[in-house]
Amino acid sequence: MLYKKIVISDDLWQIIRNEMTMFAISKIQSLDKPTIIQNAISIPRDQFIMNVPSFNQFLDQYELKINNLWLSVTKRIGPHLDFSEDSTDYDDYQNKPRTRSLATNWPIFNTENSSTIFYTPRPDHRFIKKGLLGFNENDLDIIDQFTLESPTVMRADVIHSVKVLNDLPRISYSIRYTSEPTILFK
Ligand SMILES: [Fe+2]
Repeated sequence: MLYKKIVISDDLWQIIRNEMTMFAISKIQSLDKPTIIQNAISIPRDQFIMNVPSFNQFLDQYELKINNLWLSVTKRIGPHLDFSEDSTDYDDYQNKPRTRSLATNWPIFNTENSSTIFYTPRPDHRFIKKGLLGFNENDLDIIDQFTLESPTVMRADVIHSVKVLNDLPRISYSIRYTSEPTILFK
């Protein structure tokens, strides 16, 4: 399994989503216009909780604590591996012990017109190192994909990309926790 829809009541999700959306608008309005596309905006955890207080209900329910989070405003994210800053290539990444591999994604805008795609690399793949390990799409085979229509937990340690199918940016939050949220992935 590479992703799973998070169990959350529609009522709570609507409240959280409204608060998340208001906060996202204020964050995006504070950006310079030319940098608005292709951005992962790092958000201080305490600032997020102050502006999205209903998220505490979700955190309490599963006894989770936020480690870090981003607001993602993007038109495309190329194939890459999360947590790969200190890896030199795919084999090195696979062999590194890793205590966390799950990320949660929270849709805000235009996510229904996007696709998150998972890949496996072909034996002769090349890789592109730009902080994270990135890959050339022609060197990969698609193994699964999903549309971010409701909060979703996913394996961020499997090569993945995001494609947006229209001309609008896709806006979502990516949230990680201090411990692996395996309870969401059952
Ligand atoms: Fe990622």
